[in-house]
Amino acid sequence: MKAAELKYPYSWEDRYPILEKGVLFIPKYYEAHTSFSLFEEGRRVFVEYCSGNGAWILQKALENPDVLWIAVERRLDRVRKIWSKMHNQNISNLLIVCGDAVTFSEHYIPDHCIEGIYVNFPDPWPKKKHAKNRLFQSPFVKALARVVKREGSATLVTDDLPYCLQMIETMRVEWDSAFAEPYYVTEWPSYGDSYFDSLWRAKERTIHYLHFKNR
Ligand SMILES: C[S@@+](CC[C@H](N)C(=O)[O-])C[C@H]1O[C@@H](n2cnc3c(N)ncnc32)[C@H](O)[C@@H]1O
Repeated sequence: MKAAELKYPYSWEDRYPILEKGVLFIPKYYEAHTSFSLFEEGRRVFVEYCSGNGAWILQKALENPDVLWIAVERRLDRVRKIWSKMHNQNISNLLIVCGDAVTFSEHYIPDHCIEGIYVNFPDPWPKKKHAKNRLFQSPFVKALARVVKREGSATLVTDDLPYCLQMIETMRVEWDSAFAEPYYVTEWPSYGDSYFDSLWRAKERTIHYLHFKNR
């Protein structure tokens, strides 16, 4: 499969959510959300938000074939890369969501059915005037608090210290009843690799890993 073989299944004027070829497409600026049966009773589900080219989650899906992995990425060019690798490596336990992390979480995931969520190197938007674009704000964390199982976890990774502190604060405010203090490390050898992980390590940046476990 070549990445370019995956195309939007709708035109902009006639857009709608659709599950096709292992990808759930959720259009932008769309309100009439539909329900899909994405979750099999009893199957463990983990979600990675902001998957980029998918290196981290493709590896996890290969290593853990009994689990359903969900990669959420809003850019079609990156979704295409995940999709072609998924097919070429015969990975059948990965669902790709081409859409926005908040919209997917708010409208497509039932209550308390996700065992763990991961967010690896979300865009830090370091300039003050752009900080409003950060994913870690109240709506996203509120949605996470609803969809993650009561005994579930959240693992967040960033090279940006101010954003790391904002993540801790937003989690504390929006999900405080669920979590003890986060486990925090700057080295996690078995964690897995991604494009941005390799990029920042090559530049000798400190990587901040936060792991929140439900009480
Ligand atoms: C810095 S890249 C990190 C990619 C990958 N996790 C890695 O470590 O290589 C951030 C990714 O998040 C995606 N992204 C940003 N905001 C998003 C959102 N609200 N919903 C879904 N994807 C988003 C971007 O398109 C981009 O691919």
